[in-house]
Amino acid sequence: MKILTGLDEWRRLRGSPEWAGRPVGFVPTMGALHEGHEALLARARAENERVVLSVFVNPTQFNDPADLAKYPRTLDADAALAAPYADAVLAPSPEAFYPDGYRYRVTENALSTKLEGAHRPGHFDGVLTVVLKLFNVVQPTRAYFGEKDWQQLQLVRGMVEALLLPVEIVPCATVRDTDGLALSSRNRRLSPAARALAEAFPRVLRMAPTPAVAVAALRGKGFEVDYVEDHDGVRLGAVRVGGVRLIDNVRL
Ligand code: PAF
Repeated sequence: MKILTGLDEWRRLRGSPEWAGRPVGFVPTMGALHEGHEALLARARAENERVVLSVFVNPTQFNDPADLAKYPRTLDADAALAAPYADAVLAPSPEAFYPDGYRYRVTENALSTKLEGAHRPGHFDGVLTVVLKLFNVVQPTRAYFGEKDWQQLQLVRGMVEALLLPVEIVPCATVRDTDGLALSSRNRRLSPAARALAEAFPRVLRMAPTPAVAVAALRGKGFEVDYVEDHDGVRLGAVRVGGVRLIDNVRL
């Protein structure tokens, strides 16, 4: 498995006979990989001749600079987890990825303003812009996204359709811990007490008859609740527990 930080180096590999003309599966990430990412990599490996993982902590999708600063950076461990599945890891610098200083960006004006977008202004502009850049650089046949980030998945699918991008988006089921908590890079920041409480989050989303009942139940247990809303047959929620923000969703 090759680890590449330079875009020219990557483009040379992408154009080489080992890669050109073959189905390429792509797993875009911000690193701090866990078993959820491993499931995406395993699926990409099974469905493509070549697999590439990107590890890029994208500054433009963080509306809170403290959140960006705290984001775990664990490239060596990420490469070790990816090694059985990926042929290449692309880990570019922010300078290489934003030569324009983020003057140019992708904006969606409807779904991106709701739910996560209402609480994290500009977040989805950053996500869509970096995903478009990644697709342009990687030129994947298929790209794998987890359903935990339901709104991101819908918006990326919408962008692919709107901008006529030649890539197939493959949604992958959320991977959960044995107690039901969705795996997330942020879980490693939970204290033992917050981790014990976090288990109730997906359970309440699933069991509560209405979003309002879910909000009340979560607040009663000590969560700060950003939102719980039903949208397109899915119940989505975002909470804070012990200073860590978690999102999740369940099908209704
Ligand atoms: O889901 C993520 O990890 C990120 O939002 C993504 C898709 C890699 C873009 O930075």
